[in-house]
Amino acid sequence: MSTTAVTVEQATTLAARSLTKRFGSRVALNAVSFTLGQGQLVGIIGPNGAGKTTLLSILADVLPASEGQIVRPAGEIGWVPQQPALYSKLSVVENLRLFARLEKLADPEQAVRRMLAQTGLEDRAQEEVARLSGGNQQRVNIAIGLLCDPAALLLDEPSAALDPRQRERLWEFIGGLAGRGTTVVFSTHNVAEAERYADQLLVLVDGELLFTGTPAELQRAVGEGSRDLEAAFVRFLHERGH
Ligand SMILES: Nc1ncnc2c1ncn2[C@@H]1O[C@H](COP(=O)(O)OP(=O)(O)OP(=O)(O)O)[C@@H](O)[C@H]1O
Ligand SMILES: [Mg+2]
Repeated sequence: MSTTAVTVEQATTLAARSLTKRFGSRVALNAVSFTLGQGQLVGIIGPNGAGKTTLLSILADVLPASEGQIVRPAGEIGWVPQQPALYSKLSVVENLRLFARLEKLADPEQAVRRMLAQTGLEDRAQEEVARLSGGNQQRVNIAIGLLCDPAALLLDEPSAALDPRQRERLWEFIGGLAGRGTTVVFSTHNVAEAERYADQLLVLVDGELLFTGTPAELQRAVGEGSRDLEAAFVRFLHERGH
């Protein structure tokens, strides 16, 4: 009788292979490579100008890479930019309808109803976007990213403008998406938030990917003695000359 070792591997849904982006002579991303599994919740952290938005934009296919490849999931990729491209004079449901049509969804009305329910915006459907709170505007922004029912959702600093309660709701929602198998990649300046919610971290500094691993692994990589991951992170950057 033979025994077979069974290893369960998460399917790769999104990967970058030696991704480089130049803006003129400025190198915004330098040969960045990583592999993400299905349902992973991935946080990109790094200082201003590190290349986080550039990386997410290339993965979302709204910006071309200069060199390198992307391995895309079988399904769609949803994109939630930091600055929502919402029409403030239109209502929530009108915005969703507009984007559903722009994306040429087979059944836009059904997608709109699904998004209103999923993001808890049914009560606000007729409200003008300009009148919504920042938290609810962010929900509309996320709803638009989710309209195509993506296999992977990319969010650029999704929690930056939210108060603590709205943040909590946002992470609960995003955690639920990842739990149901959507690969989620977000950027943040909030190291504590990345530690708390991400199961994988990418540390990007000056276009270089300096670290890939779990928050606990980052803590170990920077050594003991720091009071929290934020302090450890600053030390990690300092030790590498940043
Ligand atoms: N359209 C552009 N033209 C020229 N340079 C750009 C352009 N977009 C980004 N850059 C440069 O590329 C680098 C990376 O920028 P990016 O916006 O990706 O950083 P970031 O990590 O998102 O920063 P932040 O934390 O401030 O949002 C920066 O040096 C930036 O000035
Ligand atoms: Mg950015």
